[in-house]
Amino acid sequence: MAKLSFLSMGVILFLCCCSVIAGMAPADPGYSKYKDPSQPVHARIRDLMRRMTLQEKIGQMTQVDSSVVTPEILKNYSIGSVLSGGGVSPFPRAKARDWMDMVNRFQNSSLSSRLGIPIIYGIDAVHGHNNVYQATIFPHNVGLGATRDPDLVKRIGAATALEVRATGINYAFAPCIAACRDPRWGRCYESYSEDPSIVKAMTSIIPGLQGEIPAGGRKGVPYLGGKDKVLACAKHYVGDGGTTRGINENNTVTDWHGLLSIHMPGYYKAIIEGVSTIMVSYSSWNGMKMHANRFLVTDFLKNTLKFRGFVISDWKGIDKITTPPGANYTYSVQMGISAGIDMVMVPFNHTVFIDALTQLVNDNVIPMSRIDDAVERILRVKFMMGLFENPLGDQTYLSQLGSQDHRDLAREAVRKSLVLLKNGQNADPPVLPLAKNASKILVAGSHANNLGYQCGGWTITWQGGSGNNLTSGTTILGAISKAVDLETEVVFSENPDADFVKSHNFSYAIVVVGELPYAETAGDSKNLTLADRGEDIISKVCSSVKCVVVVVSGRPVTIEPLVANMDALVAAWLPGSEGEGVADVLFGDYGFTGKSPMTWFKTVDQLPMNVGDPHYDPLFPLGFGLATEPTGGQ
Ligand SMILES: *[C@@H]1O[C@H](CO)[C@@H](O)[C@H](O)[C@H]1NC(C)=O
Ligand SMILES: *[C@@H]1O[C@H](CO)[C@@H](O)[C@H](O)[C@H]1NC(C)=O
Ligand SMILES: *[C@@H]1O[C@H](CO)[C@@H](O)[C@H](O)[C@H]1NC(C)=O
Ligand SMILES: *[C@@H]1O[C@H](CO)[C@@H](O)[C@H](O)[C@H]1NC(C)=O
Ligand SMILES: *[C@@H]1O[C@H](CO)[C@@H](O)[C@H](O)[C@H]1NC(C)=O
Ligand SMILES: *[C@@H]1O[C@H](CO)[C@@H](O)[C@H](O)[C@H]1NC(C)=O
Ligand SMILES: *[C@@H]1O[C@H](CO)[C@@H](O)[C@H](O)[C@H]1NC(C)=O
Ligand SMILES: *[C@@H]1O[C@H](CO)[C@@H](O)[C@H](O)[C@H]1NC(C)=O
Ligand SMILES: *[C@@H]1O[C@H](CO)[C@@H](O)[C@H](O)[C@H]1NC(C)=O
Repeated sequence: MAKLSFLSMGVILFLCCCSVIAGMAPADPGYSKYKDPSQPVHARIRDLMRRMTLQEKIGQMTQVDSSVVTPEILKNYSIGSVLSGGGVSPFPRAKARDWMDMVNRFQNSSLSSRLGIPIIYGIDAVHGHNNVYQATIFPHNVGLGATRDPDLVKRIGAATALEVRATGINYAFAPCIAACRDPRWGRCYESYSEDPSIVKAMTSIIPGLQGEIPAGGRKGVPYLGGKDKVLACAKHYVGDGGTTRGINENNTVTDWHGLLSIHMPGYYKAIIEGVSTIMVSYSSWNGMKMHANRFLVTDFLKNTLKFRGFVISDWKGIDKITTPPGANYTYSVQMGISAGIDMVMVPFNHTVFIDALTQLVNDNVIPMSRIDDAVERILRVKFMMGLFENPLGDQTYLSQLGSQDHRDLAREAVRKSLVLLKNGQNADPPVLPLAKNASKILVAGSHANNLGYQCGGWTITWQGGSGNNLTSGTTILGAISKAVDLETEVVFSENPDADFVKSHNFSYAIVVVGELPYAETAGDSKNLTLADRGEDIISKVCSSVKCVVVVVSGRPVTIEPLVANMDALVAAWLPGSEGEGVADVLFGDYGFTGKSPMTWFKTVDQLPMNVGDPHYDPLFPLGFGLATEPTGGQ
């Protein structure tokens, strides 16, 4: 009965009724071993690879951006993967269903290719599913490092996986496991800590995203626990956080011991946890581009560490092997593929890549064995994750996007990420927690009423945005207003003048200042100063009224001259969409528990300065963070 309907209904059942296929005997006409989930993965890989042409193999190694890919391209070239780059969306404010329809449309085209190999769909879900309107935006990694709570981070991974699946997507380019050694680096907030042991602990996000390898399961092989999980990507291999003066994509100068002890520990752990993919860094190690580093990618990562998933390039990463990028694209492809990169994030000019690689293979510059290694790794991940059995997005996950459970979890993360750096002047009693029943309070600063600012870069757009309509969430001002008594008058002024502050009888002021959103190179900074006259606002307010300063930033900032004037200082990092987590702790419903994941410098001339350095003279050392007892919100 099942067999008959399979034969008569052809391709439709072929795509969706795997149990039917699984039940068939190999002698059946139309049987393909690689489509039979009862076969072991290695047998399915071998069967599929012997059917593939060179063009189909190279297609699998190609990842194209969603903005240029078409159903025809996917089908004709047997493209292996599609991505939505930072800020790319089917259209502004697309809903989960719109995303899922787009992904399914692409997937259907791939399934209609000659061999029907499904695509993996990747996206930068780096603090929640951040490209997507109304997704839960979790604190950026630096804030998660401050929680010192690997279990929390694992739960965030699981929640993020559900939100990503809500849009039909199955692959997140996360986590970034850089050890940020210099806060001048524009990606410092993507790092959990300067301290490799904290970074290593926070790779717990990988079993959150992918699922945990069951007891007795094989450690160290790519793993995905089910349809509610997504592939993870440890990045950027290796040394991305150690570049000279924190210049993004620059040169990391360190010896072998330094590389292994500071930048590598996260990778050892990620591989044991079954991370499915690893992304190569744009940066260089001692002058050699990582995208061309055969020793570190092939000899060390694949052969010594026995990483069995696939290695992916960064966005136009192979182009950047030369200066200027793309100066000799054939050379770039040769160097990148020879180094051991398996999938190339092209992302726009797929035919140029495919033609160059095809030529290099035909000319025997790149051996077929290198292509086969790449394709085997990509297919291993695809079979392992059940992609052939479940290629399409599942609508039962639609409601997971921005769910209340996930917002509650993000709020918990915000609470635990806050680091209390100062609480009270000298012998004065502590200022925090604040009273909810004060008659009149001032909230000031550029970051108090700006959801975009508190989310930072990689939120809806690549560079992040400004304002409260960027996505859904609660600002810090909104959270304060909700937290205080109904009778309390909350006066908000972004940049009040000194007379205004003096003329009112404020019980206290909360000043929320920080950095403007940025991502990658645009975030590189030499001075690390507060944006939007943050220093002025602090001086004006704190000289007239008891003040609590909340800094919203991706990293330690230049603050030392201002601290004496403050009554309390809180590092809130980039908390994301759930500002209520800030109010929960300011008003004592919960205590402060966060510990700084970064060293706070006094002046930028001290940089780089990391814990363990011989002349360590910080404003606040790594691990600093005052505690308060919860007061039950009195
Ligand atoms: C795809 O292949 C078909 C048939 O060979 C061809 O007509 C079409 O132009 C190709 N399209 C693309 C985008 O390569
Ligand atoms: C994809 O194909 C499936 C099965 O044929 C079909 O149910 C679904 O509507 C298609 N989705 C899109 C978006 O084309
Ligand atoms: C590092 O940055 C300097 C200054 O911008 C630049 O000249 C140099 O080429 C960069 N090095 C690398 C490896 O990117
Ligand atoms: C580009 O690099 C290739 C090696 O991959 C080399 O043979 C060729 O001469 C280079 N082309 C130019 C224009 O430098
Ligand atoms: C690559 O793609 C981009 C964007 O689609 C386009 O502007 C550019 O001309 C293409 N370059 C080449 C070499 O095809
Ligand atoms: C605020 O509440 C605290 C604790 O309940 C109480 O001691 C204090 O008198 C109250 N202050 C005002 C101004 O009502
Ligand atoms: C969002 O707010 C900004 C300014 O705050 C405004 O320019 C933009 O038009 C608004 N967008 C929508 C969709 O309301
Ligand atoms: C100022 O506020 C405090 C309580 O917050 C109150 O005790 C005092 O009377 C007020 N003074 C004026 C001048 O309103
Ligand atoms: C700090 O550097 C930025 C550029 O990175 C610049 O725009 C700003 O004016 C500088 N601030 C100060 C106080 O020098």
